[in-house]
Amino acid sequence: MIKRTHNCGELRQKNINNNVSLCGWIAKRRDLGGLIFIDLRDRYGKTQVVFNEDTHPDIFKTAKKLGLEDVIGITGLVNARPKEAVNPKMLTGEVDISVTELVVFNESDTPPFDIGNRNSAMEEHRLTYRYLELRTDELQRNMILRHKAGQATREFLNKQDFIEIETPILMKSTPEGARDFLVPSRIHKGRFYALPQSPQTYKQLLMVAGFDKYFQIVKCFRDEDFRADRQPEFTQIDIEMSFIEQNDIIKIGTGLTRYVFESVLDVKLPETFPSFTYQEAMEKYGSDKPDTRFGMELHEFAQYVEQSDFNAFKSVLEIGGRVKAVVCPNADHFSRKVIDELTVWIKTYHGAKGLAWMKSVNGSLDGGISKFFPDEVKSQIINDLDVSENDIIFIIGDTQKVVLNSLGALRLELANLENLIDTNAWAPLWVVDFPLVEWNDDKNRWDAMHHPFTSPHLEDIKLMETDPANVRSLGYDVVVNGYELGGGSIRIHSKDLQKKAFDLLGVSESEAQEKFGFLMDAFKYGAPPHGGMAFGFDRLVMLLAGSSQIRDVIAFPKTTSAMSLMDNSPSFVDDQQLYELGLEIKKIDKS
Ligand code: AMO
Repeated sequence: MIKRTHNCGELRQKNINNNVSLCGWIAKRRDLGGLIFIDLRDRYGKTQVVFNEDTHPDIFKTAKKLGLEDVIGITGLVNARPKEAVNPKMLTGEVDISVTELVVFNESDTPPFDIGNRNSAMEEHRLTYRYLELRTDELQRNMILRHKAGQATREFLNKQDFIEIETPILMKSTPEGARDFLVPSRIHKGRFYALPQSPQTYKQLLMVAGFDKYFQIVKCFRDEDFRADRQPEFTQIDIEMSFIEQNDIIKIGTGLTRYVFESVLDVKLPETFPSFTYQEAMEKYGSDKPDTRFGMELHEFAQYVEQSDFNAFKSVLEIGGRVKAVVCPNADHFSRKVIDELTVWIKTYHGAKGLAWMKSVNGSLDGGISKFFPDEVKSQIINDLDVSENDIIFIIGDTQKVVLNSLGALRLELANLENLIDTNAWAPLWVVDFPLVEWNDDKNRWDAMHHPFTSPHLEDIKLMETDPANVRSLGYDVVVNGYELGGGSIRIHSKDLQKKAFDLLGVSESEAQEKFGFLMDAFKYGAPPHGGMAFGFDRLVMLLAGSSQIRDVIAFPKTTSAMSLMDNSPSFVDDQQLYELGLEIKKIDKS
């Protein structure tokens, strides 16, 4: 056994003439007749080691048979590389090692893809061999970054007197929005535990128990549809505090975000983050998670429609709809084909009925629906919307929901298409005053926008019965570069107000008792005012890593169809296991 004296990223000029031992994987191999050069890799870096036939013929013979990803240990002398062979891209690029001893720990089969080039294989293939993909530079870096972000989180919260308390993974099914993952009980046949969608109820109970500053870096599970920034199991930095107001949580959330960015990336975020009300964010950006790294704010357009002959939009306004616009700069290259494609896209994915437009040409507006607008109105539009030559104005008229959502999506799409986003910028912000509830057309009821324990603004409580749509909650989100990084709320801590909230949500007393009785009962015994938030830890690390996929920062992620391709889960289980659980599977094709 060769025991390493150094790691593969450590040797520098100062080590020249030292006798050292390294262990690692073969990342690269070049055979130059009597000399073999190998890059030996571990998680710290790579070092070039050299086998010389003249000086060590026996070792050279073994080295001839070595292949990529074999695991070896070597001992040898550190040499200065000749000037022309210095590799400035490698931390150890000024030295190499002439090998005097070699142990082959393990030979590798030919790897199923090139570890040096992560993009050499399809993602499904890489996920099947995730332990190999984890050897790539990018994923090694991401995992280390994740570790640092976790350490920084613990450091910050510990310094602020938070204590980390674990909460159960097997809990009662209390759907919070998404579907629960269920775990059948063997001892209590027919009963199920659920995996927590978040430790929401437990952290509130910890407040009742007197742990006034709680946190946990915790796994959460949601059986929902997956996207690039969602996984069925993911990690939250979960926080709850007592005797605080919304601003105290915002202060802690801002402080934590700043601390992690500075510790991990050495990036200093502003001391306070800008704050938008939900309504402002929706009106300006058409999104409750606006990306403010670029402008292109949405403009009110109704006043111009009223002075035009464009009847389609006029009738939208007559029935209480909205008309808004977004200006895309320097769009003279936008052909009819590009506009038609955008129109199909916005109709298909964002529910708009169409996409109207006008181009700014020779100081006026031309094309699209421009002919319906008198010249003086066109001048007014150019002036008010700050339109420059060759800009294009896109306009949508529809229900408020469709207008804001579709223009918000278009704003982002255009910025991406036209490369208008400064990818080196950081744009953190808070969105506050979310509506307490939103109308669910399918189910014909009000749903909680955050969760049922979120407190309304105290001055809006009176509207809960008369005008629920306009009740603002004490709920907030922290957003970075257009990603919802975290969210939370001040909670209801009075039984009476909680009952009022359940009444609004159509949760009957017996249903509330059955689902959340334990929490309601706890509130009878001295519940402090409290609130909190949870950060999506994977999303935080994804942003720090400069990636757009949370799969890139999770060691063993699931695919978008919730499969683990490496161990092939979910899998069928044998009949004996089902029998013990009192379960029977009906009509499943196991082929
Ligand atoms: P919420 O549901 O907003 O709040 O979740 C908090 C944050 O968790 C992240 N997140 C996810 N990340 C990856 N995959 C998912 N499927 C996923 N779902 C959510 C997001 C989100 O902002 N208990 C409340 C918090 C509170 O009120 O204190 C909660 O879970 O970044």
